[in-house]
Amino acid sequence: MKADAYKIVDDVYWVGVLDWDIRDYHGYTLNGTTYNCYLVFGEDKVALIDNVYPGKSEQFWGRIKDAFEKEGREFKIDVVIQNHIENDHSGSLSEVVAKFPDVEVYCSKKAEPGLKNHLPELADFEFNTVKTGDSLDIGGKTFQFVNAPMLHWPDSMFTMLMEEGILFSNDAFGQHICLSERLDKDVDPVILTEAARKYYANLITLSSPMVGRKIEELAKLGLVDILKMIAPCHGQIFTDPSFIIDLYTKWSTGTYEGTKITFIYDTMHHSTQRMAHAMAEGVMSEGVEVKMYFMHDDDKSDVVTDVLDSKAIFVG
Ligand SMILES: Cc1cc2nc3c(=O)[nH]c(=O)nc-3n(C[C@H](O)[C@H](O)[C@H](O)COP(=O)(O)O)c2cc1C
Ligand SMILES: [Fe+2]
Ligand SMILES: [Fe+2]
Repeated sequence: MKADAYKIVDDVYWVGVLDWDIRDYHGYTLNGTTYNCYLVFGEDKVALIDNVYPGKSEQFWGRIKDAFEKEGREFKIDVVIQNHIENDHSGSLSEVVAKFPDVEVYCSKKAEPGLKNHLPELADFEFNTVKTGDSLDIGGKTFQFVNAPMLHWPDSMFTMLMEEGILFSNDAFGQHICLSERLDKDVDPVILTEAARKYYANLITLSSPMVGRKIEELAKLGLVDILKMIAPCHGQIFTDPSFIIDLYTKWSTGTYEGTKITFIYDTMHHSTQRMAHAMAEGVMSEGVEVKMYFMHDDDKSDVVTDVLDSKAIFVG
């Protein structure tokens, strides 16, 4: 399939997949998402960061070929950096290995058994395991690795491209959103915030204690000072990293300016419904914002999103 690679900065391309049609991801309702992968052209080697769902690789290969053509380089991936084992980011690794049998694959120590388990055809493949502080030079382009356990899986890691200040954060800082534009600044900030909020509420909340610690660790490693972009594996790329770091800091610490109360109820003969509506009238007359969910029809991933930044929740 012919598909364009998107140049982020010199030598770095987005080569991901637009999944326009997905509407449900393990109970999370969404209106499409993207599986972001990136190609980095070093002077000596070419590195691919993450890959895509099995069976979703047509666009991915089209974009990779386009990036190689744009760079005028021999079509050869030398390195794969596998930041996470979940198959929306690793499901095409076997295709990459089959095409380029000499490819070196870098992943966290926890990722190796998971990858071998998910991809039995790679059971005998030799992975290079890396940890926080390790780095890899592909010729004028240096990657530094940072383990990020529970952001959002035990195997997760971040990869920083030092020269460009791009943090490839995999699932962390993502949004399930599928747009023709790739960057944060091409999207209305309200839409971007809403998508990031739903994603955080549904996928990151349980790891909230890890968020602040990881941002502090990145600062101690000197990576926040050089940070220019955050390139997650879903949704828009942040050319303004402070936008999403500030939101994550707020959500992970429960610091909300609003007064929102969320009502969550179900009813058969309408008395609970009447009670919920009457209570809502009471708090609204005090100037409180109300969100109302009737679980007969409403979607649980939307409920969780409002629970994230509510001051109180009523369940009936
Ligand atoms: C999802 C759901 C399941 C229910 N299951 C039962 C049940 O197993 N047995 C029963 O006597 N009533 C059941 N009810 C009826 C509740 O007892 C009734 O809805 C409750 O008293 C609240 O009153 P309301 O429907 O007027 O709000 C159910 C109601 C809902 C919404
Ligand atoms: Fe994941
Ligand atoms: Fe993912």
